[in-house]
Amino acid sequence: MIKYLGSKRKLLSEILSAVQTAMPGARSVIDLFSGTSRVGYALKKKNYEVHANDHNLYAYMLAKCYIATNLEAVGKEAKKLIAEFNVIKGQAGYFTENFCVRSLFFHPKNGERIDAIREVIAKKKLEPSLEAVLLVSLMEAADRVDSTCGMQMAYLKKWAPRAEKHLSLRMPLLLSSKESLPGFAYQLDALEAAKSLDADVTYLDPPYNQHRYRSNYHIWETLMRWDKPEVYGVASKRIDCRTHKSLFNSKRQFIKAFSSVISSLKSKVLVVSFNNEGFVNRTEMEALLSKKGQVTTQVIDYKRYVGAQIGIYNPKGEAVGQVSHLYNKEYLYTVDGR
Ligand SMILES: C[S@@+](CC[C@H](N)C(=O)[O-])C[C@H]1O[C@@H](n2cnc3c(N)ncnc32)[C@H](O)[C@@H]1O
Repeated sequence: MIKYLGSKRKLLSEILSAVQTAMPGARSVIDLFSGTSRVGYALKKKNYEVHANDHNLYAYMLAKCYIATNLEAVGKEAKKLIAEFNVIKGQAGYFTENFCVRSLFFHPKNGERIDAIREVIAKKKLEPSLEAVLLVSLMEAADRVDSTCGMQMAYLKKWAPRAEKHLSLRMPLLLSSKESLPGFAYQLDALEAAKSLDADVTYLDPPYNQHRYRSNYHIWETLMRWDKPEVYGVASKRIDCRTHKSLFNSKRQFIKAFSSVISSLKSKVLVVSFNNEGFVNRTEMEALLSKKGQVTTQVIDYKRYVGAQIGIYNPKGEAVGQVSHLYNKEYLYTVDGR
């Protein structure tokens, strides 16, 4: 799985037990802001029918791979192609030019192989589930050799030790249809998804602040789309980072947008993640959610995002400023509107 700001990797057991306790016997769950799909994957493993949604393409590809595709459907062919891709020779192209020369996110020797493998995937015109699995395999391989603090706003001044390692693709750990129910992936705006999807429980993990995911993970968006857009700035961001916005990244608009999502959802039981550093404090969130049903709040101490652990860097990768604290509080709200 890729490094991801706000990923709930370390909160999975709390989220799972919140869903199980909130509605014993529930069969289906929507993960409305799915990101890496880690939460949906953990729920799918527990035999829930999962509906994962995110508006970014790289997140949709992760959901298509881990939630909507079972091992039996593509496993054999994907393993064969991954073995072929692992011996493809590098050929510099768009990726190398922008992310290894213009900006220094990857070592050129790896960038050249990413270019060559991505071109082969594009030319093969594969069946969509198989293509998603291979693209995720490539994205995860690239993530293991990047030279960042886990976000793509800036790269490190010197190559990170992992950036010098050899790029190697692995088979994503898909679940078997024998151990899980079919799952579904969507690339919709959260409000649209809230209106159109239906499940027993909805899990919501919206962005907490002004930092836009499209900008923080612009390289993954470009690698998935392979539309080779014009780029700008030190980080060589895709030009659409200037215009692609989410209402959930605006302090002014968050409460209105989140309230519309909550009231549009058909699920009567919700589990919501938010922390004490976001736009909305605990009192405001409890007031907002109580319009839907009875709210219970769990508070969990949590190690802050990787950037805070490593330090604060400017876009040139130079250390600047001090980190004020290393822990925050994660709130897990359960809402019961039955
Ligand atoms: C806090 S992250 C979710 C992390 C996820 N739970 C995980 O463990 O990886 C929030 C996600 O919301 C998505 N997002 C932001 N605005 C959105 C919108 N308007 N509609 C749908 N998804 C949105 C972002 O792309 C991001 O992946």
